[in-house]
Amino acid sequence: MESRYKSFHYIEDLSKYVNSDVILRGWVANKTEKGKLVFIQLRDGTGTVQCVTFKGNVSEEVFANAKQLTQESSVKITGSVRPDERAPSGFEVDVKEIEIYHISTDYPITPKDHGDAFLMEHRHLWLRSSRQHAIMRIRASVIKAIKDYFDNNGFKQMDSPMLTPSACEGTSTLFETKYFDMGTAYLSQSGQLYAEATAMALGRVYTFGPAFRAELSKTRKHLTEFWMVEPEMAFFDLNDDMDLAEDLVVYIVEYVLNNNRKELEILERDITKLEAIKRPFYRLSYDEAVKWLQDNNIPLKKKVDGQEVEILPFPWGEDFGTPQEEAIMEQFDKPCIIHRYPSEVKAFYMKRDPENENVVLAMDMLAPEKGGEIIGGSQREDNEDLLLGRIRHENLPEDDYQWYLDLRRFGSVPHSGFGMGVERMVKWITGASHIREVIPFPRMIYRIYP
Ligand code: 4AD
Ligand code: MG
Repeated sequence: MESRYKSFHYIEDLSKYVNSDVILRGWVANKTEKGKLVFIQLRDGTGTVQCVTFKGNVSEEVFANAKQLTQESSVKITGSVRPDERAPSGFEVDVKEIEIYHISTDYPITPKDHGDAFLMEHRHLWLRSSRQHAIMRIRASVIKAIKDYFDNNGFKQMDSPMLTPSACEGTSTLFETKYFDMGTAYLSQSGQLYAEATAMALGRVYTFGPAFRAELSKTRKHLTEFWMVEPEMAFFDLNDDMDLAEDLVVYIVEYVLNNNRKELEILERDITKLEAIKRPFYRLSYDEAVKWLQDNNIPLKKKVDGQEVEILPFPWGEDFGTPQEEAIMEQFDKPCIIHRYPSEVKAFYMKRDPENENVVLAMDMLAPEKGGEIIGGSQREDNEDLLLGRIRHENLPEDDYQWYLDLRRFGSVPHSGFGMGVERMVKWITGASHIREVIPFPRMIYRIYP
């Protein structure tokens, strides 16, 4: 869509202004000089274009302006648009006027290689570089695709509270805050429990917001604040839940392929890998996955008395970590859903499998190419007594969950849902090596600045 703001133009719209004049506003990504020519790489957030200043075409003042530009100086450039096959944008701009907003000096991020620590410390500026810019545009697309998918498929968005009196995903990763004279409140780990209540009012809902986990894990996949979308559906069983999860992932990947080719190219992402993401995905029960690990001699790695030990064969009942997930996923070019995990490794609200007491109707979707877990979900326990039993077993404060138990007291129904981590999804789609690159300002155990 063309900008309504007629006082200037955006680089992404240049194809509409071939051979006519445009006014561009932006920042100097790079500048080179060659005799009577100054080449300015101008970026404005929508794209980058080369603006060519030829001494013979402009006033002395304009040429002097071009020459004094530095990396990240901000400018207004008037010029005419010329198609250029060699240019990445397909166009070049022949400069007529240059007005300087601000000359930037000693911009800390130069084209040379900087270490990760330095770049993270300058995250507020690093976002301007082409790789980060591409990732942020894909992130915006992923979020839009998620909303479009649910809004167009009968779901209503609801918003769960961020301040909560109780835990959703285990008590070990709660961030606490003092709540007036009512004691301790916690930053929400998940909007699920409130989405369940709302699903009983609206049928199909999704909550979309930040989630907070005081994760002690220092990995490439964990943030302490991340964004999660959580659909919750009355009358859906685990199979319906898994079908929905597959559908959503296919929709998002397709949306990015259709809308972010340029960004994927900048990131040198192998597009054929994404084009292969079609239904049906793979599915394995936990039992089948454990058997595969045992048959392939993949051990459980565990810390015992501070010592890392390997246990073979992989024992039934243990949760999978990155080594097991990555080993399983090496055989697949599409995501794989692992379902029916041992109840002891999963959250209190998951429903027991009526066909096997030892497992719950849980599902995790793992992405290929070391993407890890992108989705976690389950069918929910809908029996009041069994749910209460699980709350007691986990030593959770019963009083805080009375409202949640009410959902099983007044018209209880089978229902299911899942949570998809936006950053996990963007990391996989972009091929970023670390999750800190796919959120504007990452929060991790060792970072809260900037
Ligand atoms: O598997 P999780 O913990 O499930 C829940 O929170 C459920 N309440 C969801 C539901 O059924 N409504 O988290 C869901 C997803 C994970 O699969 C992962 O994609 C992401 O959230 N996630 C994280 N992403 C970044 N950093 C972390 N520390 C994350 N923890 C979970
Ligand atoms: Mg999980």
